[in-house]
Amino acid sequence: MKAALIGLGSVGRGVAEMIAQKKPGITLTGIADSKSGRICNEGIDIAAVLETKRTSGFCGDTAISAHDVITNADYDVLIEVTPTNALTGEPALGYIRAALLRKKHIVTSNKGPIALAYKELSALAKKNGVALRYEATVGGAIPIMHTLEDGLCGNEIVAVRGVLNGTCNYILTRMAAEGLTYEQALMEAREMGYAEADPTYDVKGIDAAIKLVILANTIWGNGTKLDDVDVTGIDLLTPDALRLAENGDCTIRLIAEAIPAKKILRVSPRLIAKDHSLVIEGSLNAITLETDMAKEITLIGKGAGSVETASAIIGDILYIRDHYDRRA
Ligand SMILES: NC(=O)c1ccc[n+]([C@@H]2O[C@H](COP(=O)([O-])OP(=O)(O)OC[C@H]3O[C@@H](n4cnc5c(N)ncnc54)[C@H](OP(=O)(O)O)[C@@H]3O)[C@@H](O)[C@H]2O)c1
Repeated sequence: MKAALIGLGSVGRGVAEMIAQKKPGITLTGIADSKSGRICNEGIDIAAVLETKRTSGFCGDTAISAHDVITNADYDVLIEVTPTNALTGEPALGYIRAALLRKKHIVTSNKGPIALAYKELSALAKKNGVALRYEATVGGAIPIMHTLEDGLCGNEIVAVRGVLNGTCNYILTRMAAEGLTYEQALMEAREMGYAEADPTYDVKGIDAAIKLVILANTIWGNGTKLDDVDVTGIDLLTPDALRLAENGDCTIRLIAEAIPAKKILRVSPRLIAKDHSLVIEGSLNAITLETDMAKEITLIGKGAGSVETASAIIGDILYIRDHYDRRA
């Protein structure tokens, strides 16, 4: 399987390292970051590129852009792992469209294009006989999409609930355990590398809402948009609220929930019993599917991380290898 990798940050590096280390039968023929690119249809020397990137900040030639790689390299699958833009989906949206028009399979960890343009992109992929896969966009390493399409394929999914943002979960866990204020817990999350310099999307619940939109559209194909989600973040929670909850054998978690039959589509801090399956610690993620036959299934795992996210991406690529004809 030949692949082109666009984005060589935390996730891209993890993917490249795991391909080099585990040799799952994937050959990188194109690679690009924001400033440079490299094409070698016989196979890129991954160790050499990673070293060049580490020492110079460039993965290749500045005369070759990501767009050049996408339109000129010989590959079967585009691995798209550039930063998320939830407002426009760019640059990923343009990259994915260009590769789909070349009849290339897509594997992405980028929530932007999937949340904004799922209908258009999945229709384009279908028309061109290729796959659009995005396991890594929700729950990091948790195989939620594989579970939905394979393990639970005969089930009707009635509801989905989840702890979909590790930063919020870490902050709430620390507020409850140590009586920290929101600001103190956020500062600690930053120091631990769990929170971005600008944590607005995470703490206001927007990141979890985007993931809920992706889940809802995947499960029910109902054209859910971000504006449809009723969103409350955790940034106004006080230590007193956490303390009160803890006194009653409960705690507070940011829960994303979709139940179409009840017209529920929301992300909000919720009082929840301490022994509930969604009460997970630290930066973990958890997703519960409520189904007609299997009843409740809860998956728990690492919601982020370089190698953890690479697990989801490589799983998607190997799924394509096993389920689709190989293309030139
Ligand atoms: N990190 C995680 O654990 C995780 C988990 C699940 C999903 N995701 C998603 O996966 C994606 C990648 O995350 P990340 O943490 O790897 O981000 P990152 O560390 O910021 O890396 C982004 C990479 O994309 C490149 N890039 C930026 N703009 C570009 C452009 N216009 N054209 C081509 N390449 C461009 C950057 O180039 P330079 O190297 O030149 O700056 C960098 O190599 C994001 O959409 C994120 O939301 C991340």
